[in-house]
Amino acid sequence: MKNMRHVLGVTLLWVAAVTVAQPPVYLDDTKPVEDRVEDALSRMTLEEKVALCHAQSKFSSPGVPRLGLPENWMTDGPHGIRSELLWDEWSPAGWTNDSCMAFPALTCLAATWNPDMALRYGRALGEEARYRNKNVLLGPGVNIYRTPLNGRNFEYMGEDPYLASELAVPYIQGVQSCGVAACVKHFALNNQEKDRHYVDVELSDRALYEIYLPAFQAAVQRGKVWSIMGSFNRYQGQYCCHNQRLLNDILRGEWGFDGVVISDWGAVHNTLEAAYNGLDLEFGSLTDGMEFSVDNAYDDYYLSRRFLELLKSGSIPESVVDGKVRNILRLMFRTTMNRNRPYGSFKNRAHGEVARQIAEEGIVLLQNRDNVLPIQLEKIRKILVVGENAIKMMTVGGGSSSLKAWYEVSPLEGLRARIGDVAEVVYARGYASPDPPKSVMYTIPSLQTDRSADDLLAEAVALAREADYVIFVGGLNKNGHQDCEGGDRKSYSLPYDQDRLIEALAEVNPRTVVVLVSGNSVAMPWADRVGAIVEGWYCGSEAGNALAAVLTGDVNPSGKLPFTMCERLEDYHAHALNDSLVYPGVNHREVYKDDIFVGYRWSDKQKKDRRPLFCFGHGLSYTTFEYGKAVLDRKQMTAADSLRVRVSVKNTGSRAGAEVVQLYVSDLKSSLPRPIKELKGFSKVMLQPGESREVEFVLDRTSLSYFDDAKHAWVAEPGHFEVLIGASAEDIRSRAGFELKP
Ligand code: BGC
Repeated sequence: MKNMRHVLGVTLLWVAAVTVAQPPVYLDDTKPVEDRVEDALSRMTLEEKVALCHAQSKFSSPGVPRLGLPENWMTDGPHGIRSELLWDEWSPAGWTNDSCMAFPALTCLAATWNPDMALRYGRALGEEARYRNKNVLLGPGVNIYRTPLNGRNFEYMGEDPYLASELAVPYIQGVQSCGVAACVKHFALNNQEKDRHYVDVELSDRALYEIYLPAFQAAVQRGKVWSIMGSFNRYQGQYCCHNQRLLNDILRGEWGFDGVVISDWGAVHNTLEAAYNGLDLEFGSLTDGMEFSVDNAYDDYYLSRRFLELLKSGSIPESVVDGKVRNILRLMFRTTMNRNRPYGSFKNRAHGEVARQIAEEGIVLLQNRDNVLPIQLEKIRKILVVGENAIKMMTVGGGSSSLKAWYEVSPLEGLRARIGDVAEVVYARGYASPDPPKSVMYTIPSLQTDRSADDLLAEAVALAREADYVIFVGGLNKNGHQDCEGGDRKSYSLPYDQDRLIEALAEVNPRTVVVLVSGNSVAMPWADRVGAIVEGWYCGSEAGNALAAVLTGDVNPSGKLPFTMCERLEDYHAHALNDSLVYPGVNHREVYKDDIFVGYRWSDKQKKDRRPLFCFGHGLSYTTFEYGKAVLDRKQMTAADSLRVRVSVKNTGSRAGAEVVQLYVSDLKSSLPRPIKELKGFSKVMLQPGESREVEFVLDRTSLSYFDDAKHAWVAEPGHFEVLIGASAEDIRSRAGFELKP
């Protein structure tokens, strides 16, 4: 008997030991993610499942505490890690340890034309997010630049779907290498801020697939992005966050997305549609649609109590919530539940270095008459810096991308630090913008002045007469109706009477350099009267240092425009049609009659006198580059082949510099109208003086295809094509023809 008890005891101990040694499948990270997902799902109650599908605070959603599954914490995005907010309010939480590194805006990243920079950007940002215990970074934004009035273009990557795709993919890979999900946004057709909550966009399938979707598709299929954010607006009459076509048919059906669809904040409107049409996780909804909310209204969310009731009554089958929960669990296993993900790091010098390099590579030298730049340090005594943007904080404002930056070097500080010991750097305000209305989210430091516009102008002009150089730093800013979420610009012109000031400065000083701090193109009626024009973007913490490096020639500029800068607003297709239905829409309805002809695809078709002021892909250097002839490895190909294009580039100047070699494809004859050319390759090469290098591109059928609405398919139509190699969309250096055989 005693023996029996002994044997039983030993057996029980053994069973217990085995049980302890084997964690449940969902906690066992040697098991495949899908097995863990199914196991976790099978252990959850209906209430726990529904809880996973909606927010619990402004930026977090619940986990399953009983099972040890952690909460999800989101953060904006896309230029740095946003500071902490109160649980249920938009006001800052007032932490003292949440000031981040501010990276350049995505327009600047796009202007680097350098995927390696995008990877480094993503990695540094991912490290910052990880350190702050966020598992979803709300970015990148890849909505296409359709109109220069869009208040949010600065958060996106320009007008070309190929360029945006090539930069979005490494950004995403960088972020996700830190065990933090990127969340590509705003899917889809959120190409303006005006009426963004309601506007219903109509467009051809061709424009949808050729222009507005490719960057999202690349994010999903090549970047393997783990989450995506639906947009506020509507498409085909249905809100994009619960849109059958966009989310079920295209995103999941055609592209095989297995991540989480997150709503934009307050973009959900209907429980049944949200249940069935692809949304997984609801954020930011208010109790009463868009307008009103009681405190902690999370139970009133469309995917909350109402959803639970419909599930409980059997009106919605449990499989519907299971599908969402699978996606959310997958996100957890990829991020918070991945024990091997690296630790992060926050606001350190290395991240500052990344921010500075991106800024230095993104700043675009648009014009440089008589080589007025770089500033000749050995010859100068006095430099005048004019303009509000030389001193204004630009990491704050603009909406949800506003940051509490660890530091921000202003252009004036950057120039003083670089030039201060060789020349006198004098500052004049020149113009002033009114302080924006107070926002609950952030405080833009006031630059209020009592001085009149005439007084500010007169002072600047008087000082300009005596200066060796005038560096005017103006442009837009992050106030409402400038480069700011929630509204569009009201005019294409520079605000605050800057044109008058620039003209007055240029009149008294030929060495006037205009630096535009903006994320959008502006009218430049003074372009032929100033020496140099620089697109300085919003460059984040290191803005001033990067700008000073470019202006003084420490860094040779190599940025190229990711969008077309036209002389007049009417030169953009969305405005050329002079039809409110095309922009900004009438009664919440907007028709993209500009179709596929957006950006250079439109300006290429215009007569010479309506060509852009600065075209897509344009950007000057302090050195010169000579291109060889484009050589193709074959003259004929079939859709199954690939074609190699080689071209040599030589630095023929006396400074080291980088050139962005651009490859455009032109379909010489096709059954559907096509753009004159389209970007299908680019490569940034660094060259020492006298050095030359061969650049190689590989084209395949995707580079030649258009989207045929009728067939709902990409078609590479046999016929004659041309490869155009250029330094910009207008500066084509070499061409070579080939034939696509049936
Ligand atoms: C913006 C999103 C942002 C979200 C959270 C929304 O208003 O459109 O881009 O991520 O707010 O702040």
